[in-house]
Amino acid sequence: MSAEVIYGNVLAEELRSEMKQEVQELSKQNVYPKLVVVIIGEDPASMSYVKGKQKASAKVGMDSDLIELPESTSQDELLALIEKLNGDDTVHGILVQLPVPDHIDDQAVIEAIDPKKDVDGFHPSNVGKMLTGQDTFYPCTPYGILVMLKRANIELEGAHVVIVGRSNLVGKPVGQLLLNENATVTHCHSRTKDLRSHTKKADILIVAAGKADLLSGEDVKEGAVVIDVGVNRVDGKLTGDVEFDSAKEVASYITPVPKGVGPMTITMLLHNTIKAAKQIHN
Ligand code: GUN
Repeated sequence: MSAEVIYGNVLAEELRSEMKQEVQELSKQNVYPKLVVVIIGEDPASMSYVKGKQKASAKVGMDSDLIELPESTSQDELLALIEKLNGDDTVHGILVQLPVPDHIDDQAVIEAIDPKKDVDGFHPSNVGKMLTGQDTFYPCTPYGILVMLKRANIELEGAHVVIVGRSNLVGKPVGQLLLNENATVTHCHSRTKDLRSHTKKADILIVAAGKADLLSGEDVKEGAVVIDVGVNRVDGKLTGDVEFDSAKEVASYITPVPKGVGPMTITMLLHNTIKAAKQIHN
């Protein structure tokens, strides 16, 4: 078997052209969705991500501001900025790029953002809503994965989903979203014994461990769906957590890196910002 490749960049383009129309419609009601991205320090990878967010916002006709703060910014200064953005009626979405420098408590930052403007879906109030199956802002990468699976018509109800990685950004929330879709979810992580015995049982295998080529075709069940969330730079080249060529021979569907999950993350951020604008103005 050779898997069908799910190109996230193609799906992202489709969704963004729908969003562009939605933004135009909203402008007729004098609603202009606006995202503010805050970045502290000059980490090149983070800078490249936030530039991507700016570019994507512009392409759908959405306003977005980038606030670049020096590495030396104190937690109090950052919290004061968030407070100001919370009170600014022209701002609908606030995103503080993670990771923040060590002297800043990331959880305090996440909790300072007004949950109604938390387009990352990281605030405990929004996490709690997701956990209890309520509509809210879902974290962008997990939400992007869910949309990709649905658009590819992959059956989620009763499917055995195995997730490798338990981060707050991806592993934990993607498990919750799929549980909400009536999948049976297994979470694996760095302390899991005999990882392959679990991955081999997956109908849908989601790998978000941040380790280049952690898994290969030998870890995949025949006909499984493989979603590779890894973004690793090896010798200057981007590569996922799954060895693509060998896994493609075994899987039924597989996402590539790049052009897989990554473009969907930014797309869901735009979706969440439009949703925030609609909710705030209703
Ligand atoms: N850093 C890496 N991914 C993300 C994300 O989705 N949101 C934020 N705020 N920071 C990130």
